[in-house]
Amino acid sequence: MTPRAQRPAGPALSVEALSVRYPGRDAAVHAVDSVSLSVAPGGALVLLGESGSGKTTLARTVLGLPGRNARVTGHVHLGGTDLRALTEREFSRVRGLRIGYVPQDPTGSLDPLRRVGPQITEVLRRHRVAATRRAAREAVPGLLTSAGIPDPEHVARSFPHELSGGLRQRAAIALAVACEPELLIADEPTTALDALVRAQILDLFGSLRSRLGLAVLLVTHDLAVARRVGGQVAVMRAGRVVESGTTDQVLSRPSHSFTAELVAARTGVRR
Ligand SMILES: Nc1ncnc2c1ncn2[C@@H]1O[C@H](COP(=O)(O)OP(=O)(O)OP(=O)(O)O)[C@@H](O)[C@H]1O
Ligand SMILES: [Mg+2]
Repeated sequence: MTPRAQRPAGPALSVEALSVRYPGRDAAVHAVDSVSLSVAPGGALVLLGESGSGKTTLARTVLGLPGRNARVTGHVHLGGTDLRALTEREFSRVRGLRIGYVPQDPTGSLDPLRRVGPQITEVLRRHRVAATRRAAREAVPGLLTSAGIPDPEHVARSFPHELSGGLRQRAAIALAVACEPELLIADEPTTALDALVRAQILDLFGSLRSRLGLAVLLVTHDLAVARRVGGQVAVMRAGRVVESGTTDQVLSRPSHSFTAELVAARTGVRR
């Protein structure tokens, strides 16, 4: 398959004044509060914050999947497309084709009841990236190999539970980027993995960024993950971005007291 599309000039993802509220019995939860951020084509933005700071809500709102009762205001653009103006039907074509997603749920985006290969074939066919069923099947080993999987034929025939955590996450990433999306959103993609595999998976994002011009929005509560990914970081607290900039700059010279506390807490913990 040839590269699908020329990457547009300007940001791959642009979020402006995005707010998400969940009405509660007593008071509304302001899960995301006036957040603005952008990710360049081929760039990486790490959303860093403690549990409950709104990272997943922000990520899922970009994907058009906030909670059912969410009240959303603000703007989200993917390249030149105003995502908030799309119908659900139009959005379902964007997910998978133009935005890949690796969810926080530890079982991931893979269907536990189906072998890995057919799941990838299905996404290529659904978005008409492969012209025929056979072309889709033939593309699978190459896609798995690009995700750093050494024995793609074996993995394609496997059920997700038959794979190690690292291989399963590589397969989930291969599925998410099968259609060569402009943006990959990965929510805590390495939390369940040991340090070596974690580093390998984070480096895989780097190679996908340079090979596909893929923009990556990576959600984590882990400073070590942010450092490894590099790029830009936006520090979230209670729904707001309290600090942002290049990861090196923000983590070595935090200007916000919350970031400084995060850095200090992290330094005090043995790895
Ligand atoms: N569907 C929902 N209905 C009501 N409140 C919600 C819903 N989803 C999230 N929240 C609330 O929004 C806030 C942000 O949650 P979110 O899951 O986005 O945080 P997070 O930064 O991803 O946390 P974690 O690191 O634990 O995954 C929390 O107070 C959470 O309880
Ligand atoms: Mg989360």
